[in-house]
Amino acid sequence: MNYQIQTFDEYQAAYQKSVEDPEAFWAEVAQNFHWRKPWTKTLQWNFDEPNVKWFIGGKLNITENCLDRHLATRGDQPAIIWEPNDPHEAGVTLTYRMLHDQVCRMANVLKRNGVRKGDRICIYMPMVPELAIAVLACARIGAVHSVVFGGFSAQSIADRINDAQCKLVITSDGAFRGGKEIPLKSVVDDALIGCPSVERVIVMTRTRTPVAMLKGRDVWMEQELKQVTADCPAEEMDAEDMLFILYTSGSTGKPKGVVHTCGGYMVYSAYTFSNVFQYKENQVHFCTADIGWITGHSYIVYGPLANGATTLLFEGVPTYPDAGRFWEIVDKHQVNILYTAPTAIRSLMSFGLEPVQKYDLSSLQVLGSVGEPINAEAWHWYDDNIGKNNCPIVDTWWQTENGGILISPIAGITKTKPTYATLPLPGVQPVLVDENGKIIEGNGVSGNLCMKFPWPGILRTTYGDHERCRQTYFSTYPGLYFTGDGCLRDEDGYYRITGRVDDVLNVSGHRIGTAEVENAINMHTGVVESAVVGYPHDIKGQGIYAYVITDQLPDGHDADLTKRDILATVSRVIGPIAKPDKIQFVTGLPKTRSGKIMRRILRKIAEGDTSNLGDTTTLLDPAVVEEIKAGAV
Ligand code: WTA
Repeated sequence: MNYQIQTFDEYQAAYQKSVEDPEAFWAEVAQNFHWRKPWTKTLQWNFDEPNVKWFIGGKLNITENCLDRHLATRGDQPAIIWEPNDPHEAGVTLTYRMLHDQVCRMANVLKRNGVRKGDRICIYMPMVPELAIAVLACARIGAVHSVVFGGFSAQSIADRINDAQCKLVITSDGAFRGGKEIPLKSVVDDALIGCPSVERVIVMTRTRTPVAMLKGRDVWMEQELKQVTADCPAEEMDAEDMLFILYTSGSTGKPKGVVHTCGGYMVYSAYTFSNVFQYKENQVHFCTADIGWITGHSYIVYGPLANGATTLLFEGVPTYPDAGRFWEIVDKHQVNILYTAPTAIRSLMSFGLEPVQKYDLSSLQVLGSVGEPINAEAWHWYDDNIGKNNCPIVDTWWQTENGGILISPIAGITKTKPTYATLPLPGVQPVLVDENGKIIEGNGVSGNLCMKFPWPGILRTTYGDHERCRQTYFSTYPGLYFTGDGCLRDEDGYYRITGRVDDVLNVSGHRIGTAEVENAINMHTGVVESAVVGYPHDIKGQGIYAYVITDQLPDGHDADLTKRDILATVSRVIGPIAKPDKIQFVTGLPKTRSGKIMRRILRKIAEGDTSNLGDTTTLLDPAVVEEIKAGAV
């Protein structure tokens, strides 16, 4: 690929060109890929409907770009290195040739089971090679994948399957995660009670947990694979055909299905992978995210493979069997690029340096951070102890809706600054706006972060509800894409993302809507009403604080038991990641006369800052604030 920037001057020149003539800039980048048919128009867009199309008329298949075209030059090079949960279990290395073969076989299994171009497929799997293979197999035949993170509940899976009307589910008997065994198939079985669109379930064997196999619906992946050949020509896709749906939380309602399309997403995830991490031939790239999130889609699967890179896929967790696991993996596989989340760094910091010092980390050349603001302490610990002050840290800011990284240093090229995502990548045009939508010019300012021009990886719609896409991202500030993040731009023009300005929480790097958690809490018998806010948490970044009105306690129910029941309810409705860290029972919530909850006050109390609660005179019942303050947990 010859789109890799080599110097800061080149970055500046590329940036300038990308702003002056975006179409020419991206057309040149896109020439690096294999298109069955070239596009006729590079870009058509408006942010009002919105309507964004890139590489119009272009035909391609992303798997030909990720697999087939590498066979002649690097067929025997590792594409995926898989490290299992248990360090004593043998891992797997798949060369590009082997991966190509397996993707084609899996694609034929899907076809055999009735899947056609355009069908939606739900994937609920552990972090095993078969997950990446399933994703690519869908792309091979033009089916749309919707990967659901293995920690979500049956209810969450059912909601996602129904929203996208998935026809088939790919899962496994179970998953190993640290010391735990999670019965994935059984969770899927619960979900499917309410999912009439699903005709078939393909089950991979991983844990050998006993599973129910429904006749006529459920088939074993291993048996299916025996029935097919490895010959599966790639389906020809339009650049704007849907590639995948990925559900993400917002400030209102249920999670929405963010839609990415084949051409733009491919170009953008691949371009940003190569540039941000400065990937060099034969390096090993280890992104610790789960493929169930966008980071895994773009920087474990598509971005690396489109560049012919070697990507490491890890099944387990950073602290199993002990807190040295990441470092052991780096040493064992001679990892060159490590891309992880601040929450993982903070959690590993708390174990001290002993687990780090046991391993040789000298293979590392670039470190990455993603998912939430990285605090200065974590940044320096990462720099000093993992990078040994010798590896650039790329603090990459982006979102599910963006397809790839938008603001980040380019490793070794952009001068870094702790806690700053630094500068926009070529093609990215950030603006800061005040609450009236007025663009704030100049440096040394802060505001709400928006984008004023599309890049190839921007979401195209939210599945089945285009109006929701317009409302959520394009209506707050007309003519702009609104990120939902607050941001400051310092004197040097460097960007620092300060966190969400809407009702979305970022807990351990996971996006969770407060409304979603409230709905889940309210499903518990005895809960009358609840309000959820975030508060600073040393490891998770943000913790979840729930204020709950219940009518059970006066009945003589035990408060601790009721709290546990509420946690169990939230786990059941969303998944364990959404469980509140703190629950406070209250008799009322601070509401305005029009019935709106004043979250500002609840946030302050949750943060432990009750000195200045601001104006409370508009409250219906100001006394309730005193009660809440007194009972804060
Ligand atoms: C936050 C994850 C600060 C931000 C790729 C954004 C960050 C949300 C950073 C998107 C970063 C992500 N610094 N905040 N480097 N990266 N965020 O959709 O609030 O899971 O809006 O995508 O995470 O989360 P999502």
